[in-house]
Amino acid sequence: MRIVLVGPPGAGKGTQAAYLAENLSIPHISTGDLFRANISQGTPLGRQAKEFMDAGRLVPDEVTIGMAEDRMQQEDASGGFLLDGFPRNIGQAEALDGYLDAHELKLDAVLDLEVPEEEVVKRIAGRRICRTDSSHVFHAEYAPPKADGVCDKCGGELYQREDDSEATVRKRLAVYHSETEPIIDYYKAQGLVTTISGLGAAAEVTQRAMSALGRD
Ligand code: AP5
Ligand code: ZN
Repeated sequence: MRIVLVGPPGAGKGTQAAYLAENLSIPHISTGDLFRANISQGTPLGRQAKEFMDAGRLVPDEVTIGMAEDRMQQEDASGGFLLDGFPRNIGQAEALDGYLDAHELKLDAVLDLEVPEEEVVKRIAGRRICRTDSSHVFHAEYAPPKADGVCDKCGGELYQREDDSEATVRKRLAVYHSETEPIIDYYKAQGLVTTISGLGAAAEVTQRAMSALGRD
C-alpha cells in the first residue's frame, strides 16, 4: 500500500506511522526524521534545513522534494510506503504525483489525522524523543518512559526538540493551516482522503486508521 499521513504538528503522525508501518509491513518515510538525521550528522543539507525548522517554516521544495524522492527510490516502491510529513504543500503534492506517474504507481489512501489545537499544544509540550532512534517517541504525561530521560526501547537519551518551543509551535500551526491543509482538498478531488480522529489512546487511533484502510 502507498499511504500519505497528514495532520497538524503533534497530531501523532510519527506515533501512528510507526505502528501502521509495522502492521502493514511497509517502510515509514518521514521527511522530518530525514532532516533531523542530516542535522545530527552535520551534512550540508542538514545545515540548510535547520535554519527553516528552528523558525517553524517549511524547508524549501528544491531541497525537500529531491530528498523525499531519493528515499522513495531506495525503498522497493512496488511494496509500498507510508509517507509522514510529505507532501506538505501543493507543489510537493504535484511533485509526488509526477514521481508516481513516472514509476506507474498510485496512492491508495490519504489519512487525515484530526486533533484540536489545544491538544496538539499539550502533546508537543510533553514530547520527548530518543537521540539514538527518532522513531522512539514518548510523552512526559501520556506515554512516560520507565526511567526519567531514558528511552525504554534502547536506553538512549531522551531530549526535547528545539522546534517544540511554544512560539515555534504556534508558527508551525499557522504554516500547517496556510500551506499544508490545502493538500487535503487536492487529494479529496482524487477521492483519496479519509479523516479520522486522532483523540484517545494511541492504540485506538491505530484501530481507526486500520479500519479506514480496510485492514481491520
Ligand atoms: P516533522 O518532524 O514532520 O514535524 P510535524 O509535522 O510538526 O509533526 P511532529 O513531529 O511535531 O508531530 P507528530 O504528528 O509526528 O506527532 P508525534 O507522533 O510525535 O517536521 C518538522 C519540521 O521539518 C517542519 O516544521 C519543517 O520545518 C520541516 N519539514 C518536514 N517535512 C517537510 C516537508 N515535507 N517540507 C518542508 N519542510 C518539512 O506525537 C506528539 C506527542 O504526542 C508525542 O509526545 C507522543 O508521545 C504524544 N502522542 C501521540 N499520540 C498520542 C495519543 N493518541 N494520546 C496522547 N499522546 C499522544
Ligand atoms: Zn531509543
